[in-house]
Amino acid sequence: MPVSSVIGLQWGDEGKGKIVDLLAQSSDYVVRYNGGNNAGHTIVFGKKKFFFHLIPSGIFHKNISAIISNGVVIDPGVLINEMDILENEGINLKKKLIISPRCHLILPYHKELDAAYENARGKKKLGTTKRGIGPAYSDKVSYNGIRVYDLLDWNHFKELYTFQAKMKNRILRTFGVKPVNITKSLSLLKKQRLRLLPFIRDAFEVLNTASEKNKRILFEGAHGIMLDLDWSPYPYSTASNTVIGGINTGSGLPVKSIGNVIGVVKAFTSRVGGGPVPTEIHGRLADAIREKGGEYGTTTGRPRRIGWLDLEAVRFSCKINNVSELVITKLDILSGLLEIKLCVGYTLNGKKLHYSECGYKELEKVKPIYKTFPGWMDDISGVRKFTDLPKECKVYLNFIKKFLGVKYKFVSVGAERNANVKV
Ligand code: IMP
Repeated sequence: MPVSSVIGLQWGDEGKGKIVDLLAQSSDYVVRYNGGNNAGHTIVFGKKKFFFHLIPSGIFHKNISAIISNGVVIDPGVLINEMDILENEGINLKKKLIISPRCHLILPYHKELDAAYENARGKKKLGTTKRGIGPAYSDKVSYNGIRVYDLLDWNHFKELYTFQAKMKNRILRTFGVKPVNITKSLSLLKKQRLRLLPFIRDAFEVLNTASEKNKRILFEGAHGIMLDLDWSPYPYSTASNTVIGGINTGSGLPVKSIGNVIGVVKAFTSRVGGGPVPTEIHGRLADAIREKGGEYGTTTGRPRRIGWLDLEAVRFSCKINNVSELVITKLDILSGLLEIKLCVGYTLNGKKLHYSECGYKELEKVKPIYKTFPGWMDDISGVRKFTDLPKECKVYLNFIKKFLGVKYKFVSVGAERNANVKV
């Protein structure tokens, strides 16, 4: 299928980076279409590990063009830092990186506002990454945003920025926060502008032509469906649409052109930040899974909350995105558990209800209906064939497939590119 997308079906951190990196080997374009540097992925190149937040995952592969399309919000400093790292590794970005002029910018006052709102919420804080994501998107929808497009003309940019920064500084002062230094930040932005200019290009035309020529395009979804601005337990959300509809608004390609939707599901649940996680577990078992799985945020380093796999939520994610293939990740982390639970539905006050019927208040109270499976003791990280998996593991995987009604692409049992079980 020439156009595919990889999306996380939970709360982010499903291990999409490895899957995108793998599929990018046979792609011509990899595209980020939503979110900003609140996302994080690890890329292994040679013997080195890189942590990127904005640059699409497949960038290290030969002959790939990486596109940051209009749905993404860009913090210029973060993007330039990633570009520097890549160029130091000998990657010629001039031939590889395209930045849409329609992307909105995350500017210094957005980060200050993000932190100020979070502090003001006190105990009820949402747990944002404080990267300025929400404030940048809210400026976009209130017509106060400044785009990459505006960087093309420095005097025009300067005028816009000064006006916006003065307005934002008034708000910051009411929170008792130090205002942004307009002269200083403008002088940095002037330098950043020069660095970014050569990469700014109409991404729609590039993608549209590529699609007409049947080139292989891979969309890299950021975050997870349970964080989607419209379909998460709002306000415990991120500020962009993580569902595949976000590909159309965030890149211009019609949804109909997406032939294959690959949904990535971690074999358990993890969550960074606040909000309800119906299947959350605490104590020793959660700690053991967190440590074994290295479940700490790539962007913020925060320990992730842990839970059993919530198939009620994942079933919703499969439906809303018309998922065609599933990848289960980190199955190896569950080895050694005596029993493993899967949530197959919710009840509230004795009545069954579905994920889509719940606001955050209901999700905080629902009781998961669990199906318990016997665990397996063997280390499965070296297994590559389904038939070689322990019997209990096969039962677990078969149940998930049947419950969700989606076939597997493969099952990932380790961080290495080839650590996958063909199903
Ligand atoms: P924001 O996106 O920084 O505004 O944060 C809003 C919520 O989304 C917080 O709970 C974050 O922890 C969460 N979040 C945002 N991006 C990611 C991600 O890529 N993985 C996991 N959680 C994320």
